[in-house]
Amino acid sequence: MRGVSTGYRFADALARAGDALPAPVLEYLMTGAGEGISAAEAGEAWRALRLRPRVLRDVSTVDLTTQLLGEATHLPFAVAPTTLQRAVHPEGEVAMARACATAGQLLVVSSNAGSTFAEIGATGARWWLQAYLTQDRSRSAPVLETAVAAGAQAVVLTVDTPVVSTKRYAGDTVWEATDPALLRVNFPVGADPAQDAEKATDLGPADIAWLTTVTGLPVVVKGVLRGDDAVRCLEAGAAAVWVSSHGGRQLDRAVPTASALPEVRDAVGEHAEVYVDGGVRTGLDVLVALAAGADAVFAGRAPVLALLDGEEGVWTWQQTWAAELVEAMRLAGVATVPQVRPAGLLARP
Ligand SMILES: Cc1cc2nc3c(=O)[nH]c(=O)nc-3n(C[C@H](O)[C@H](O)[C@H](O)COP(=O)(O)O)c2cc1C
Repeated sequence: MRGVSTGYRFADALARAGDALPAPVLEYLMTGAGEGISAAEAGEAWRALRLRPRVLRDVSTVDLTTQLLGEATHLPFAVAPTTLQRAVHPEGEVAMARACATAGQLLVVSSNAGSTFAEIGATGARWWLQAYLTQDRSRSAPVLETAVAAGAQAVVLTVDTPVVSTKRYAGDTVWEATDPALLRVNFPVGADPAQDAEKATDLGPADIAWLTTVTGLPVVVKGVLRGDDAVRCLEAGAAAVWVSSHGGRQLDRAVPTASALPEVRDAVGEHAEVYVDGGVRTGLDVLVALAAGADAVFAGRAPVLALLDGEEGVWTWQQTWAAELVEAMRLAGVATVPQVRPAGLLARP
């Protein structure tokens, strides 16, 4: 019988979501852009990488703690921003944030969240705001100010979406099938949704400095797939870069993040913070991504599918991946997260 599980498995979570969620919601969560090539390749690219385990190392105690933007976090994997979490579970982002607060896990909240930033901040979770900028930058300021007031500790600027890419849906889109009350709850009352949803097509390095000034927070740039772009972001004042192809939802045929990550790490050197997401499905995938150059690994669909069972479902996902990661680290001969990259675990093809 589906639904009785002592652990989290992505395939099981997806099958349960297929039974439980309205078709447009499930399709929205899983669909990639265009022909879905990048979405399909993302996970395979991690699984194609191979490890060189170390032996004769003391792995009696494994510590998953790591530092992100100068602050300790209990887990090196975290929750990527995704919209419509309240279409998956009535408590949406709040249930996700409660689980993160309990686990000491970092959470990135979509600017298009269906719960208020104040409710999310009240859970005590450490959270960062994901932001898009509008063509008229001043229209973005109210959402940023609301997030800062609710305790966001960094801003993640998504830069891979000058336009929202075309997706092919079989029937109604999720936007037609979703209660408008679940959308855009953090935008000012009376704001024009069409104008606020518009994405800037002229983003440049100067926007990183602008965001830093407006929010007073560190800025992370999400959606980087090349070494030269990563260097430009850091030179413009970014606190970190996030290698992402938006889960294969923007440019179809963009390179898998597993391929882009080593290029980005080589370009920026050892000391800059680099994060990655896309197709990560297990704790072993997390280790492979850390070995390939990431300081932290983010997941979008995995925690959203876990959210079907609310806070407890997310807790099960966290515990399962943490246990898988601890086992993988023991078998690979590393006892702490900062040991992973210098250990040279990744076999170069
Ligand atoms: C349903 C869904 C909604 C998303 N919404 C956003 C968003 O609002 N902002 C954003 O920067 N990325 C968004 N993303 C992309 C994720 O942050 C992340 O890059 C991607 O999901 C990682 O791939 P994975 O789902 O295979 O883990 C979304 C992804 C999904 C699946």
